[in-house]
Amino acid sequence: MAIPSGSACAKLILLGEHAVVYGQPAIAIPFSALRIRTTVEPNILGTPRTIHILAPELEIDSDLADLPEGHYFPLLLRLLFDHLELRQTPTCKIFVRSEIPFSAGLGSSAALAISVLRGMSAFLGHPLTLEETNILAYESERFFHGRPSGVDNTVIAYEKPVYFTKDREPEFLAPQRALIFLVADSGVRKSTSLTVADLAHRLEVEPGFVNPRLEQIGRLVHASREALVKGDLSVVGENMNEDQRLLAELDLSCPELDNLVSAAREAGAYGAKLTGGGRGGNMLALVDEDSIDQVRSALEVAGAVKVIRTVLKGE
Ligand code: PMV
Repeated sequence: MAIPSGSACAKLILLGEHAVVYGQPAIAIPFSALRIRTTVEPNILGTPRTIHILAPELEIDSDLADLPEGHYFPLLLRLLFDHLELRQTPTCKIFVRSEIPFSAGLGSSAALAISVLRGMSAFLGHPLTLEETNILAYESERFFHGRPSGVDNTVIAYEKPVYFTKDREPEFLAPQRALIFLVADSGVRKSTSLTVADLAHRLEVEPGFVNPRLEQIGRLVHASREALVKGDLSVVGENMNEDQRLLAELDLSCPELDNLVSAAREAGAYGAKLTGGGRGGNMLALVDEDSIDQVRSALEVAGAVKVIRTVLKGE
């Protein structure tokens, strides 16, 4: 019998991070090359009704009950058990392996939730629908982020490119042409809840500065939707550059990301910008087959810790 398991991809926000928290649209795409995988096995020799969690990348090797109060895993599993109306804690071992770096703008927290929800619900014999997975992952994101927009859990749960506006039905996109991106890691780690909280504070004290920029990001996202579907790389690239300019004005970039963005553009990328929470983590550059090698080398010279190619497939 196959071991019950679940997996979830990373994600890239192409345009619109942060503004999406305030009701503006964002475009996000799955980053399927990096994943979190969860397997769940019965713990025949273990103490009854005890869950053991082994997650090396999160430095967890512990029984669920021994994790500190307010820890993410008990909260996530409680959400699932309540949803399934499970009355007894199962006796099992959960193994989580992550290829997705944490606090790097790639949606690791939503991917972790979705991977564990999938693995555990498969083990319990009640696999979740995509919609249930998405709803539970959003709930878990609220523990993690405070005020998540819902874009991360949506793009990861459905693993499809999405035009996303908070509190509206997601609109899935079908690009007519493949788009190639390079994703480069600045090596700097920054928690998204911190950058989201900083922006919320700035919005409170300087609404006249922040609001017009958030609205302008929303207009860029709106204007990029058709260009993305048609594969108009120049328009998408220009809008990525403009989005980066606005995010930098909102103090969401950092010198390491700025360097990578400039290097990618100078080497021939159509556009380049940070992705996700910002002030560290990853950036992405839109390239084509002619520019990819040059852009990759330029990113490496500019200090990228890792550069990964990913393709958004065309229909
Ligand atoms: O840093 P990540 O991968 O969690 O992405 C955060 C995206 C934000 O727009 C900054 C927050 C959100 O909830 O949409």
